[in-house]
Amino acid sequence: MSASYEKTDGFNRRAFLKGSGAVAAAASLHQQASEVSAADSKEVVSGSKKITLNVNGEDVSVEVEPRTTLLEALRYQLDLTGAKPVSMDGSSGASTVLINGKPKMASTTLAIACRRKEITTVEGLGTDIPKAFVEADAQQCGFCTPGFVVAVSAFLDKNPDASNDEIRNGLNGNICRCGTYSNVIDAVTNVVKGG
Ligand code: FES
Repeated sequence: MSASYEKTDGFNRRAFLKGSGAVAAAASLHQQASEVSAADSKEVVSGSKKITLNVNGEDVSVEVEPRTTLLEALRYQLDLTGAKPVSMDGSSGASTVLINGKPKMASTTLAIACRRKEITTVEGLGTDIPKAFVEADAQQCGFCTPGFVVAVSAFLDKNPDASNDEIRNGLNGNICRCGTYSNVIDAVTNVVKGG
């Protein structure tokens, strides 16, 4: 790569890439791969292997390669299609699931790294939040909705009395291309108010 391409008018490509979701996702997968090889090196080196995951309270069996993401295992082996493959770098929030109660992007999480952890998908959550979304008309195409519902569930678990500003800040990792943000905030506010 030439120096002139690297630095132009104060904007340089490396600085842009450093801040991009793609780099964060690659770093996350790399870090997980290191953790996996430390913990599971005897069992999974290459090829595929049957492992057990705990999903929505049930132990289920999936066949994974070391590179298989949790999102792929959920959607294509377990038929749990709530988490969406909108952005494989996780920047949209559409693949949000709970791992040990914390919101994580299934698209940037290796399935093999999820053994012995509790995974909850939107299918395993109750109906209160989805109902609030429907009542506040907080969806259009609906692609972002499952990710939002999981993120809202995790957020309200920690912030049951959240204010409007806190809700806005708390959900800033999820993107809605249809722009239904104000209705999403209304939906969450109604849940906070017990509506
Ligand atoms: S409703 Fe379409 S992306 Fe959110």
